[in-house]
Amino acid sequence: MNTPIVDFVEKYKKSGTARFHMPGHKGKNGLERDITEIKGADELYFAEGIIAESENNASELFGSAHSYYSAEGSTLAIKAMLTLAAGERPRGERPLFLAARNVHKAFVYGAAMLDADVEWMCSDTEHICKCVITPDLLDEALKKCRRKPDGVYITSPDYLGNIADVKGLSEVCDRYGVPLLVDNAHGAYLAFLEENKHPLALGASMCADSAHKTLPVLTGGAYLHIAKKAERFCQSARSAMAMYASTSPSYLILQSLDACNKYLAETPISKRQRIVDFVNAERERLAEQGIVTEGDECLKIVINATASGYRGEELAEIFREGGAEPEFCDGDYTVLMLSEFNSEEELNCLKNIFSSLKGKPPIDTAEFKLPKCERAISIREAVFAPSETVDVALAEGRICAVPTVSCPPAVPIAISGEVINAECVKALLHYGITHISVVKKQTKKKRETT
Ligand SMILES: Cc1ncc(COP(=O)(O)O)c(C=O)c1O
Repeated sequence: MNTPIVDFVEKYKKSGTARFHMPGHKGKNGLERDITEIKGADELYFAEGIIAESENNASELFGSAHSYYSAEGSTLAIKAMLTLAAGERPRGERPLFLAARNVHKAFVYGAAMLDADVEWMCSDTEHICKCVITPDLLDEALKKCRRKPDGVYITSPDYLGNIADVKGLSEVCDRYGVPLLVDNAHGAYLAFLEENKHPLALGASMCADSAHKTLPVLTGGAYLHIAKKAERFCQSARSAMAMYASTSPSYLILQSLDACNKYLAETPISKRQRIVDFVNAERERLAEQGIVTEGDECLKIVINATASGYRGEELAEIFREGGAEPEFCDGDYTVLMLSEFNSEEELNCLKNIFSSLKGKPPIDTAEFKLPKCERAISIREAVFAPSETVDVALAEGRICAVPTVSCPPAVPIAISGEVINAECVKALLHYGITHISVVKKQTKKKRETT
């Protein structure tokens, strides 16, 4: 598989051409590969040259109608995906999405930009990142939906490594004629396993994948994939991306996406399988030591800390002291992400830390209940309204403005436009959120007396 973007930049670098164009560093101090849209370099959102050629390689690898590059993460691809689906709504009507509740905040901002309504699907869950939607649950929700939605939106895999039954869900969506949109930020690698488990292969219409999370790509590199069965969305895809994106995409990120194609085409799956086997073996060993792991993802080890007698943060500190930095921790969980780029030495380091862990009696945690809040105003109104930040303890009765959640996992507990109730305050405090953005109360305008 060729690497047209990498090759172009390499040739340009070697040519010694004097750079009288952006960026200001002029390729000095080790930055010679960082270029801009010069002649021959193509243009990401009007791609016809080397970028289009490279994206065609990615499309072939993922089996999509087309895979579009994002240099601004899945955050951009998610907004574009929603925009494309909303584009099918008759003019003048507000878009509607039926979404599993564990959305990343990019979804909320996307809904705000489109002034979309959202009907939420919730499952009984013990963690904000988890929301298992079965095909039956989806069928029920679609039956009850006030009107036909423009898309069903799920997050799979979620931050805790749970993978949805995408095949079952896509069959339900097909029956209702609604596209299945998947936030697959954590699952780009799923297409490159012994069995292809990527949402596109299982019937999704569109997916947003963060290449950078699980593949050898620079931070920010991502794809918007459009499935062959949903090819109609390709027509407007570039303009949907351009609507939210910078006009100066990073060529360093584009080169890494380009190089990744060659890597994926030429690397035997057995190289990744070695890590999958390692993860499975370590999960079994941990279980023997009384450490509870969860999730079905094969490149993540998700420890249910409280069920193992620890706090998530406490476990994370044990990993740090042992020389390993985890991806994520909160009170309940500690998450480790692996890939074939972890060296033997690093795997041994992890193994040694695992060996030191001994399961203890589970810690009784206050039961977490996903808050059910009433909607007062639309997501768009709330996100764009004048807002203020208040102490969570004083937020009861106020309307949530922008999603106040840090990354990771950036899954909002209160959604913009919802009234924060007592249950919600409890849930926010459970996740250590002490301040929240709320819509400013409207003060009556003083009458002019002149
Ligand atoms: C589930 C999920 N979706 C979307 C995103 C956004 O991805 P990116 O950082 O590539 O913009 C993240 C980021 O952590 C995520 O965890």
